[in-house]
Amino acid sequence: MFAITNPSLSAINSAAKSLIHGALVGIPTETVYGLAADAENEAAVARIYSVKGRPQDHPVIVHIGSMYQLNKWAINIPDYALKLAREYWPGPMTLILERSELAKDFITGGQETVGLRVPAHVITLALLEEFHKLGGNGIAAPSANRFGAVSPTNAEAVLSEVGEFLDASQDLIIDGGQSLVGVESTIIDCTEEFPIILRPGAISIEMIFGTTGLISKPNKDSKIRVSGSLEQHYSPKAKISLGGPVARGSGFIALIEIDTPVGSVRLASPQTLEEFARILYSALREADVRGIQEIVVMPPDGDGIAIAIRDRLARAAR
Ligand code: TXA
Ligand code: MG
Repeated sequence: MFAITNPSLSAINSAAKSLIHGALVGIPTETVYGLAADAENEAAVARIYSVKGRPQDHPVIVHIGSMYQLNKWAINIPDYALKLAREYWPGPMTLILERSELAKDFITGGQETVGLRVPAHVITLALLEEFHKLGGNGIAAPSANRFGAVSPTNAEAVLSEVGEFLDASQDLIIDGGQSLVGVESTIIDCTEEFPIILRPGAISIEMIFGTTGLISKPNKDSKIRVSGSLEQHYSPKAKISLGGPVARGSGFIALIEIDTPVGSVRLASPQTLEEFARILYSALREADVRGIQEIVVMPPDGDGIAIAIRDRLARAAR
């Protein structure tokens, strides 16, 4: 395996060439790290699924370099989706749109929609630019974890999740430092009259309403499948309990103002909700590395990203 740190433009260009030739590349984004392949290369995308151990009918997000490439992948884009793209891209938001012919069944899981995102990370934006120059149209990338496990938020975590399943002769991982947001993008269904949040993230319901003047409650009967919305997901090896009680030797994660219960192992003390999101997944990983069997997390109150944190914690705890 080949991990690149502080990549030069020529290293980024050669990573783009690797993608064009069908390799997998672990990529940094502001949310979590992705496991990327050329979104038009069916064999390469199939390798993502086998490396992740992910069921075939789950769609993957296509990452593009700017909103001006939306038209390649999507049709009938509503005005409110363009407003969202203009306001929040590059950024932690994925738009679900009606697919164009470019978005094949192996990307969409056979659905008539495609998920698209412009990530906010300098290295990955440069990679996308080089990839587009070489004739590529988009990079498919789910989070770079094994199916159901915790998403990686740094290159080391990518290596420990999927390193052993990658092909050292062609695949690589780009080290872009710690992901700054730390939880996956907000997924917004833009195929209806109103935007519908399918997965909460850093782009909040207030932000979406503020930009578009529109919002709809999530529809539980929606036929759209979102794998992150499976009841159990984002789980470390340790058992997660929310709110206590706290047994001796348990790991403990809570905002800084909450005292550490006697006998527990403090794994993180974030000062803000943003920091809570940023460090959560690495704190869960650290517990596994230390062989801790149970982690008690005190879910933070509030709106905005606190909703995304509680969503991931509830699934991790199932
Ligand atoms: O922040 C993120 O979104 C990260 C980074 C790498 O961009 N990616 C990510 O990918 O979280 P993944 O595959 O782990 O989660 C993407 C979610 C999945 O639950 C998938 O089902 C959903 O997006 N999705 C993708 N395309 C979709 C579509 N056409 N319709 C409905 N859901 C879709
Ligand atoms: Mg994922």
